[in-house]
Amino acid sequence: ISLKTYNTFGIDVNAKRFIRVDSVYQLQELLKVEKDVFLISGGSNMLLTKDIDKLVVHIDIKGISIDKEDDNFVYLTVNAGENWHEFVLYCVDQNYGGLENLSLIPGNVGTCPIQNIGAYGVEVKDTITKLEAINIETTKLHTFSNDDCNFGYRNSIFKNKVKGEFVITSVAFKLTKQNHNLNTSYGAIETELSSKNIISPSLKDISNAVIAIRQTKLPDPKEIGNSGSFFKNPVISKSAFINLQKEYPNIPSYTISENEVKVPAGWLIETAGFKGKRCGDYGVHEKQALVLVNYNNASGKDIYALAEEIKKHILNQFKIDLEIEVNIIK
Ligand code: EPU
Repeated sequence: ISLKTYNTFGIDVNAKRFIRVDSVYQLQELLKVEKDVFLISGGSNMLLTKDIDKLVVHIDIKGISIDKEDDNFVYLTVNAGENWHEFVLYCVDQNYGGLENLSLIPGNVGTCPIQNIGAYGVEVKDTITKLEAINIETTKLHTFSNDDCNFGYRNSIFKNKVKGEFVITSVAFKLTKQNHNLNTSYGAIETELSSKNIISPSLKDISNAVIAIRQTKLPDPKEIGNSGSFFKNPVISKSAFINLQKEYPNIPSYTISENEVKVPAGWLIETAGFKGKRCGDYGVHEKQALVLVNYNNASGKDIYALAEEIKKHILNQFKIDLEIEVNIIK
């Protein structure tokens, strides 16, 4: 079958064998006989560059349950196949706080910990208490505490030490029911709220502001194929940054530590002249240079080649080695 509708980049590659699983038990039984599988969930952080020979397993385990609650907090367990944005909207509607800044991020709940999704000053690691995952080798369920996950910027243990060894089946969250810890410091959120004269925003106000901001910058994968930010924002040394500033006085930056500075990759790519560049069916998004797009039927190989060209260019011009954030399936 074609995987075009199973990946947000909309890449049309084929799977020889495909199965959908909707329970942990079914997945465990399957993994007892098939270890060499290709897992696909929301398909929002991958670039497929070829047909998949392995058995493709679509993780479609649904369900949200409340484990406990008191006056201040609610503890929920959410199964991997729940759509991320729908879960965020459910929380906002129930007045559960903590995820509103992460509205409209594509993908499913089960994959949000892998890259520790983040936006507008919030990362999902701030609300995850633990998660459950099947060890592919033993097919046993294993619990990872928040600490076990080794979360970092767009990073976790699932991209490093135990890469490819586990399938996340559910994620547990601790959210606020009152005294919400609102994060409105990101400039565009402030601007959006004040343009609506909102002084003390509700969770819904923040969620709506984030949705509005994302819609102006980021392409909707249902209309234009993409995987969000294609590269990570690079962290460079303070001295390298000071050197760049001499040549590019307007270079934006965020201080990470005394000796380190994070630079927006979108700015580097735009300054290198790639913003809005279109090569037939694919290119660099016209409103956010960090996002590569598939306008219709581009191949993953072509998009990957463009990414490599951008990387080369940025290395030449700024002496910065950009790191690809999206999982390239070669
Ligand atoms: N910028 C440019 N040109 C561009 C894009 C950005 O000059 O084409 C500059 C902006 O002017 C601004 C800075 O870069 O000064 C930051 O831009 P923006 O606020 O759009 O955020 P970003 O750093 O490009 C990161 C995340 C996004 C997240 C936003 C908002 C990464 C790799 N990306 O992007 O996450 O939504 O911040 O918090 O950290 C994703 O991971 O898929 C993703 C979309």
